[in-house]
Amino acid sequence: MTFDNISLFPVTAAVNADDHLTLGGCDVVDLAREFGTPLYVFDEDTLRGMCREFVAEFGKRYPDSKVAYASKAFVNPAIARIVAEEGLGLDVVSGGELAVAKAVDFPAEDIYFHGNNKTPDELEFALDYGIGQVVVDSFHELETLDEIAGRRGMRQDIMLRLSPGVDPHTHAATTTGILDSKFGFSIETGDAAKAIRQSLRAANLNLVGIHFHLGSPIFELEPYALGVEVALNFLSQFKEEGLQLREFSPGGGFAIGYLRNEPPPEISEYAEVIAASATRLCDELGFGTPRLIVEPGRSIVGRAGVALYTVGGIKDIPTVRKYVSLDGGMGDNIRPAIYGSEYEAVLASRMSASSEEVVTLAGKYCESGDVLVRDITMPVVKPGDIIAIPSSGAYAPSMASNYNLNGRPAIVMAKDGDARLIRRRESYADMMMMDVV
Ligand SMILES: Cc1ncc(COP(=O)(O)O)c(C=O)c1O
Repeated sequence: MTFDNISLFPVTAAVNADDHLTLGGCDVVDLAREFGTPLYVFDEDTLRGMCREFVAEFGKRYPDSKVAYASKAFVNPAIARIVAEEGLGLDVVSGGELAVAKAVDFPAEDIYFHGNNKTPDELEFALDYGIGQVVVDSFHELETLDEIAGRRGMRQDIMLRLSPGVDPHTHAATTTGILDSKFGFSIETGDAAKAIRQSLRAANLNLVGIHFHLGSPIFELEPYALGVEVALNFLSQFKEEGLQLREFSPGGGFAIGYLRNEPPPEISEYAEVIAASATRLCDELGFGTPRLIVEPGRSIVGRAGVALYTVGGIKDIPTVRKYVSLDGGMGDNIRPAIYGSEYEAVLASRMSASSEEVVTLAGKYCESGDVLVRDITMPVVKPGDIIAIPSSGAYAPSMASNYNLNGRPAIVMAKDGDARLIRRRESYADMMMMDVV
């Protein structure tokens, strides 16, 4: 049986004879019973399928392309292992993410270290691990890394992150490629030109490529074409000064479906626009065929993850609003509170019940802003029902906190009727582990 919004759910989503949602062949009501709620269920087939789709769609249009998973979207050892098995590289933005990569022996040469303020300790760690490339984001970092590499008697491969001044029309908090951004060397201010020249002169650094990232999620295709054009045209002036573009990265930011009526472009459409503009401009400007690096985060894990909650108290304010309180909220998914992000939801424990009333799905945290889904039409729910929110795999568990000292949720990976725990629920003892009494 199919259901509304099925395209937002993992590819294995279905409804069983008990009228329950199933993911990866597992009945989510059984999962909720076994592992408790809130629970994040990742579907392995969807996760692997997205990795393969990116590799295939970019690879067939631009043979020397590399897909590097932006691990900030969500990583832990189980996810990192799958990403490595699928042949993707990895973007990390902190020593912590690098530590996860190290824990699974992720190939060092396939790791890109991003971030606008990497600490000297993080840079030392990256070089200890033999990381492929550091994506340098500031003059301070350029100097610090040059000094660290020099002390080690080595030359470190780097890319520079440029800010091309292209607006991808995302939420203001997730736009990164415009002039007023903390990220990257701005082309407009002259910083990008200065950084390229300084990198080419640096005794212990090897400038192998240029990167930019516009923002996320980007539902339009044009910003990518424009970003590639602006960046490559700008770079052409440095060829005579010795810039060899071995690698070129237009970042990530590929959208996923959150709402039934806002479908994202296909991966093939993003691939077409990026590969076509990179191929044409590299050819015209005499850059040859640099390796193309794309960095999807959200689009690899977003659809694969579904959040499960149990309904608790219900408060009806006649003619105003009906609040349905769930046992999770902003601690496991902060996106609605900080970005105004919107989601769909289904009554996973009675999938065929017809939608009858408009409710607001609230979290359990002591904040009025702790609302997961505002004004959604749902069946009449009762305490104990299980609600599933799709498109929850990216930037929900990774941004989770233990605010109000609610433990962070457990996470399972479902495949072929089995669910294995990939992160256990945070306990009271876990939350006090770092406290000194
Ligand atoms: C440099 C860089 N690459 C890739 C990404 C991944 O973006 P997304 O998860 O939207 O694909 C980000 C996100 O902030 C980023 O900053």
